[in-house]
Amino acid sequence: MSEPTIEDYYVEDRTFPPSETFRNNALIADRSLYEEAQEDRLGFWARQARELVTWFEDFETVLEWDLPFAKWFVEGKLNISYNCLDRHVEAGRGDKIAFYWEGEPGDTRTITYNELLEEVSKFANVLKSLGITKGDRVCIYMPMIPELPVAMLACARIGAPHSIVFGGFSADSLSDRIDDADAKLLITSDGGYRRGEPFPLKDTADASVAATSTVENVIVVQRTGQNVEWDQTTDHWYHELMESASSDCPPEHLNSEDLLYLLYTSGTTAKPKGIMHTTGGYLTQVAFTHKYIFDLQPDSDVYWCAADIGWVTGHSYIVYGPLANGATSVMYEGTPDTPRPEFRTGDRAEWPKDRLWDIVQRYGVTQLYTAPTAIRTFMKWGAQEVEQHDLSSLRVLGTVGEPINPEAWMWYHKNIGGERCPIVDTWWQTETGGHMITPMPGVTTTKPGSATHAIPGVVVEVVDDAGNKVERGGGYLTITEPWPSMLRGIWGDPERYKETYWSEYPDRYFAGDGAKIDDDGYLWLLGRVDDVMNVSGHRISTTEVESALVDHSSVAEAAVVGATDDTTGQAIVGYCILRGGNEPSDELREEIRQHVATKLGAIARPKAVVLVPDLPKTRSGKIMRRLLRDVAEGRKLGDTTTLADESVVDEIRDRAAEAPQED
Ligand code: PRX
Repeated sequence: MSEPTIEDYYVEDRTFPPSETFRNNALIADRSLYEEAQEDRLGFWARQARELVTWFEDFETVLEWDLPFAKWFVEGKLNISYNCLDRHVEAGRGDKIAFYWEGEPGDTRTITYNELLEEVSKFANVLKSLGITKGDRVCIYMPMIPELPVAMLACARIGAPHSIVFGGFSADSLSDRIDDADAKLLITSDGGYRRGEPFPLKDTADASVAATSTVENVIVVQRTGQNVEWDQTTDHWYHELMESASSDCPPEHLNSEDLLYLLYTSGTTAKPKGIMHTTGGYLTQVAFTHKYIFDLQPDSDVYWCAADIGWVTGHSYIVYGPLANGATSVMYEGTPDTPRPEFRTGDRAEWPKDRLWDIVQRYGVTQLYTAPTAIRTFMKWGAQEVEQHDLSSLRVLGTVGEPINPEAWMWYHKNIGGERCPIVDTWWQTETGGHMITPMPGVTTTKPGSATHAIPGVVVEVVDDAGNKVERGGGYLTITEPWPSMLRGIWGDPERYKETYWSEYPDRYFAGDGAKIDDDGYLWLLGRVDDVMNVSGHRISTTEVESALVDHSSVAEAAVVGATDDTTGQAIVGYCILRGGNEPSDELREEIRQHVATKLGAIARPKAVVLVPDLPKTRSGKIMRRLLRDVAEGRKLGDTTTLADESVVDEIRDRAAEAPQED
């Protein structure tokens, strides 16, 4: 008999209750938290805030709500770096490992809470010595190395909000973000390692700093040892500054609503938004969800979130949540298809793609948190390498970033989880700061592909076009009550905050996602309903890519769609009309794709650029993206009757068939 396939294995409507074994040891195995929160939502969050967070001064007011502006735990004073470090050391857990860090080239560091506290305190003094004080914005552009959490926690220690820019973003994207936040300091590194090679960061950082006027100093961590340009007046080596820094740096007593960080995210316009997260509410919700959604057993677990700290997932579930809970985590610098150097034999294509499973086995990882796009990639690679590793330490699996298709869920469940680990499919956003909709592993019966229900203390509703609540069936996901880790606004633009999130449906936060509720009351997330694409779990705005396309000197007009892609969820397809005097060619197509990567970063490079004589428009001149998506996905065209000129689409389809699709 042949191996059963996923199709044999996956049965629609199959449900997965937590096993008896799991429930017997779970932190929470009943509905008590849901019931408590249902009865008294604010009382519930206040209890969590007092249990999970150490306050220098207690709060009296749990929530001040002046829709859409929230203040949580109002009079409370605290410091997040104290909560993530000092209090564990003071409780005698200083020798506990905070991070098992592994570099892509196989170098490792084991960092205890004692060591992390010492390094953070020293670096906080370094920041002060460069004139950074409470409220100053610090921009961070770094690879996945331990100095990145150190920099974040040092900022938090002195009350200087950080703004992390993912290392894959371009110089332009970095300088836009530096400018918008008026950042005074940039922390970067010479480079990092990815796919077996060093990549540069300092070069890009230099180009950005040259284009901005606010950055006074640049601190550079030496990671790869590659050559870098050096400006004696602004540039400083991290290791040199740290040599003489004192490790005595008492944490600032900050207000609950002091700004912790900005994180820029793409919306429906060309200008990314600086999402603001503050201190007390954010820490409460990320600590709560990290503990209960991953069923964290602090004495025995080795938790691993395989995201990049450049995204919100890494902020909340590599740094702040796990450290607040005193967890031991794994942090890995590189890609899953880059094995340790001793296993890199033959061509790159022949290298084993088992780095993740190698890490799970060596460190005895108990929770693995990754993205559906990664899971689909592992499915493509096949289970044979997975099977060669002992993954029996795993207890809970998590996914985040985009809807997970049932096939990928089942593959994860069977091949990684050994049919024993609950899967928590966690829906949330940069704006929500922490998990909002997800199973609780010891409580919820899961269904492959459904994120199930809102967590205790969070209230969501699906509404129809008119904004009426939908009890069963499809609609738009909204959040009806404020939650502790909610965004506090868009940096510098309160009007845009109201307009973007709170104006579509009165008195509700509109998340931008479609959702449906099934007959059992389970929530199924259906993806974005706005002009935001989700490529490998990363948000990219169609408008941003369109402006990068028309920025190319040969492009007159452009339209971008996210086409369904088996691996990355969506793939970017750009349709461009050339300016007069330009002839379509493969070289030009490639140049235009590359131009987007230069303007925005490699993650936004379109998979295909189709050079077209015209775009499908309505008689009023609106581009019909729906038809372009049909073309990109090779579908029969939907209704074309509103098109000004129907022949345009045939021409576009012919051109699309010719355009190569790149990785
Ligand atoms: O569309 C939803 C999708 O990712 C969007 C948020 O993107 P971002 O702010 O970059 O944060 C990603 C990591 C939290 C959401 O609007 N999304 C995220 N998680 C899920 C999801 N869609 C379905 N299921 C999920 N579990």
